[in-house]
Parts: sequence; C-alpha cells; structure tokens
Amino acid sequence: MTSEDVTLMVDDSKLPQHIAIIMDGNGRWAKRRGLLRIAGHSRGIDSVRAVVTECARLKIGYLTLYAFSYENWQRPADEIEALMHLLTEYLIEEKQELLDNGIALGSIGDISRLPEHSQNALGDVAEMTRDMTGMKLNLALNYSGRQEILRAVQKITRVCSEGALDPSGIDESTFGAFLDTYGQPDPDLLIRTSGEMRVSNFLLWQIAYTEIYVTDVLWPDFREEELHRAIADYQKRTRKFGKVL
Ligand code: FPP
Repeated sequence: MTSEDVTLMVDDSKLPQHIAIIMDGNGRWAKRRGLLRIAGHSRGIDSVRAVVTECARLKIGYLTLYAFSYENWQRPADEIEALMHLLTEYLIEEKQELLDNGIALGSIGDISRLPEHSQNALGDVAEMTRDMTGMKLNLALNYSGRQEILRAVQKITRVCSEGALDPSGIDESTFGAFLDTYGQPDPDLLIRTSGEMRVSNFLLWQIAYTEIYVTDVLWPDFREEELHRAIADYQKRTRKFGKVL
C-alpha cells in the first residue's frame, strides 16, 4: 500500500475531535541502532513535529502528547536533563510553526517541578499562541492521571469547605472542571506506540470511553502515514458508550 493509499483511508467527515498519544519506544529505537537513548528522544521530536503539523492540517481539535510522566523522574539524571533541554529547544524552535498552523499550546500536569528554562519556554509559547483558534496542543509534563485526580479532589474539598459547593451536587461534569483538561472534550482516540498494552497512568478519568489503538511502530518511526493508519482504524470502530445500538 502506498502512502497515498493510506491518506485516502482517512474519512474527513469522521475525524476524532481529540487524539491522545503515549509516545513510547524512543529508547528501543536508539538501542537497536547502537545509539544512546537520548538519540531516540531526539528523533522522537521529529515525530512530534510531523504529527502535530499533520493533526492541525487534518483539523483535529485537540492533541495531547504524553511527553514526561510523574514516574519519569526515576530515570537517570542525565536522561532527564537531556529531555528537558529537548523540550525547551522544541518550544523555542517550534513557536513560529505553531503560530503558522493556528495551534494554541498548553500543558497538563504539575509543571512547577520542571527546570526554569522549560517553565519559561512553556509560558512564553502558551502566551504567544493563546489566541490561536485552530488545534489545541496539550503537552503532558510531570503528568500522572492519579496525581491529577488527587489534585482535583484537594481543590474540590477546599471549595466545599469554604461553602461554595455542596458535596452532594458534585457530578461528573463538576469534577471534570477541576481537572487539568477542564473545558476540553475527552479523547476519542488514544494511540500508544511500541506495542505495550498499558495506559501508564495517562488521562485515567478522561479515557473512560476512548478507543485505544496500539501499534508496534516505535515512536521515532511514527509519522504521518502511521497517524493516518491509526485514524482509519478508529473510523472503523462502532462507539457504543455502554449502550445497545
Ligand atoms: C518513551 O520512550 C518516551 C518518553 C519517556 C519521552 C517522550 C518524549 C519525547 C518524544 C521528546 C520530548 C517531547 C516533546 C513534546 C518535545 P522510552 O524512553 O520509554 O522508550 P523505551 O520504552 O523504548 O525505553
């Protein structure tokens, strides 16, 4: 099948509104080539650029990328430092491309633990792209689904104790408003690369009815064609949301 055939498989009238991606396999990609893990992350950034631009071109409303998890702090210090520098570099180099494609950048997770250079770059690019009306790009950084839920519980109990909210009135939509993804639709499609069948603490609340697509392709090899394959697969699914159709 040619890459043109794969592009044709995507039905523009049935696109997912929100795609979330667990970008896995950078280390394995590097190891297979006898390279350092960071070379895999560096190549992974090229996939980030390709996928972000293609999602915006397809008019996907929201794209959420799992860039650094809460658990990733347990990696070797030099790998963490290199990842943070790659992130900052990506933000600085990519801001014009984001603006040109109408993309608004934001983040989910507790970014206060990130190095100052990354926090500054995130703040600058978020501010600069704030009024963009195309796709919303969320970078999940120091992110954990469980931590996000705990933070929401802490905020909600504070509001309740101040008397501003009645606990018996808390429903799913009230709770969702205390999450980092406030105001955004839940992902329709969750893509995970490199074959692992896990959700790894990603968007635990939000993926309740998300369609999951796992591919053996490693993240540094995941480009436009693989994205089209994932979307085409999603478009073949029947979403029932627990109902009988
Ligand atoms: C998983 O591969 C990947 C990560 C932990 C980081 C993902 C980060 C990037 C693609 C670069 C930074 C992102 C942005 C948005 C600028 P792994 O190292 O766990 O791979 P392995 O399982 O093969 O070891």
